[in-house]
This record gives sequence, C-alpha cells and structure tokens, in this order.
Amino acid sequence: MAAAAAGPALDAGTRAENVSAAMQRASTSETAPAAPLAIILRINGRAHELSIEPRVTLLDALREYLALTGTKKGCDRGQCGACTVLVDGRRINACLTLAAMHDGHEITTIEGLADNGVLDEIQASFVKHDAFQCGYCTPGQICAATAVIREMRKSEPSAVTSDVRTIGPIEPSDAEIRERMSGNLCRCGAYPNIVDAIGAIVRKKVI
Ligand code: FES
Ligand code: FES
Repeated sequence: MAAAAAGPALDAGTRAENVSAAMQRASTSETAPAAPLAIILRINGRAHELSIEPRVTLLDALREYLALTGTKKGCDRGQCGACTVLVDGRRINACLTLAAMHDGHEITTIEGLADNGVLDEIQASFVKHDAFQCGYCTPGQICAATAVIREMRKSEPSAVTSDVRTIGPIEPSDAEIRERMSGNLCRCGAYPNIVDAIGAIVRKKVI
C-alpha cells in the first residue's frame, strides 16, 4: 500500500467533519469500500498528509502507509503492547485506534526518541541493562516506559499504589514498574531486565 498525497489542505474543522461523516458511513457497511479521507498525521514532529480509508488503524497507517516499521504488530487486538506509541504524551495501543481519529495529534513512535542517532536515556538504559533478547517487543516497551516514567514523576497512582487518596511522590518500586508495564508482553521473558532498566531511571531522580 503506498502513501498517497492528499489534495488541497483542508482546515482542521473541515477535516474533523469529514472524518466523522466518513466513519459513520463506514460503520453502516462492513464490506463496501469507503471513500478515502484527507488527514494530517503529525509524527515525530513532522506532518504527513495522507489520503486514507477511514477504517485503517493507526498501526497500519504507520507501518503500511508511512514505512515507520519500528512500531510492531504482535496480536493486532490490544493484548500484547507491541504497537505502543505516544499520542499527545500518553501511551496507547496503535492497533486499537483508527488513524483518522488522530488527525492533528502529536504522535511519537520509537523512531522519534533518539536525537540525531543518540539514544535517549530510556533506550540507553535498555541497552545497558540488556533488557531485550529478540527485540520484537522492545519498541513498544520503550514507548510505554517513556510514558510510565512521566506518570510516576507526575505522581499519578497505579493499582498497586498504597494510598491513592494522598497525592505525593510515587515509591519507585519494582512492583509499581511491573504493574504499570503489565500491558506490554515479552515472549523472551526479559521482564527482570526491563524492570531494572526503568528502575535505574526512576530511582535516579527524586520523583
Ligand atoms: S499489536 Fe497492538 S496490542 Fe498487540
Ligand atoms: S525481547 Fe523478544 S519478545 Fe521481548
């Protein structure tokens, strides 16, 4: 599937109306092809104009339309976390959301974390702690870890936070990291080293 250039650029309001109407049309038929939509995906700081079928997932848009194959397809049904990317700073499964729903959002993929070939601190920590074997789950693990570290630094509680009524620093424990990373599976079982790689960062600074 090749990327297609969109026609004349539409303003964000018009694109949003087109998205909504096309998705409504698509939802009434499971088989009929839907007219392509003109959308703009902002990925790793760059705007990409696409003409895209409204039922294409964000994961397929990244991989098949934009050749951003760092984001991996594992289960394609929200169970493994291999497709985790950041949308407006929050982690999501790209296989469970439609590209058309993210027109104008800031999307960060694994390709957007390094700076001119220099790994960011989470990527470097994964290498230092040997936190992967085959590497297939690793882009999703690193994108998820990026958001997890931010969430912990912002004192956002998890299911294992002892007192969710008190807003205060989150204890940077292995239990907190394991709970927050529990949506990202690793068939190679690199979990202890993944926890070490993230723990080394969250324990480095006062959070
Ligand atoms: S590929 Fe998206 S959660 Fe598995
Ligand atoms: S490193 Fe192989 S699946 Fe995680």
